[in-house]
Amino acid sequence: MFVVAQISDLHFRNSDPEQLARVDAVMRYLNDRCGGPSAIDALLVTGDLADDGLPGQYEEAAAHVITEIPTLTLLGNHDDRIAYHGGLQPVNSSLLLDGLLLLGLDSSVPGRQDGELTETTLAWASEQIEAAGDVPVLIAFHHPPIDVGMPFMDSIRQLDPSGFEAFVRRHQNIVGLVCGHIHSPSATTFAGVPLVTAPGVSSTLNLPFEGDDVLNDTQPPGIAFHFIDDTGRLTTHFRSVRLG
Ligand SMILES: [Fe+2]
Ligand SMILES: [Fe+2]
Repeated sequence: MFVVAQISDLHFRNSDPEQLARVDAVMRYLNDRCGGPSAIDALLVTGDLADDGLPGQYEEAAAHVITEIPTLTLLGNHDDRIAYHGGLQPVNSSLLLDGLLLLGLDSSVPGRQDGELTETTLAWASEQIEAAGDVPVLIAFHHPPIDVGMPFMDSIRQLDPSGFEAFVRRHQNIVGLVCGHIHSPSATTFAGVPLVTAPGVSSTLNLPFEGDDVLNDTQPPGIAFHFIDDTGRLTTHFRSVRLG
């Protein structure tokens, strides 16, 4: 059994005390539970690390997102590749555990709010899957590839996921897809595979019947814990984290 934690949409924004308190509470929750025989195996940070993609916001992120858990950090539409790693190339990363491959794919498109997993990124991901052999694969990215019932976020998702759908259907050992962006925990399917979105750390966004404002200020930050068992089945648990 593998345990993969996911946090998303941290949105560092120049020493905002509430945002920092939320991140610190989530990191404390994770770090208090790493180590030991049933440890968290990996952490996914699925994009919108910075609110405005500014270098100082990434410095603040580096000072607050500190953990011994092996971590893949992804970018979202609020991020900036040059500020993050000095170049325009996508931030794709992989972590091969002893029996599970994690891929973090960059769905951000410089200068745009919507997203895309490009042919280049998907070709890189295919190479990683083929090199890892016959192990379950969990794929992480920022933008959902389908509508989730939140009209504004649906307008800035991956707008044409046809290439991604073909990729998922081609690789039968992909056991789940996890993403962020919508600041709302949810579970659905895509290309016949479970698709889970993580709660937002910095904020939660309203569902259509919850209010006219974009932001829902009643919800605490949260974490997703993805369990992948020996048969490759994905089960996700969600936790809200109390502040203070
Ligand atoms: Fe976000
Ligand atoms: Fe986003």
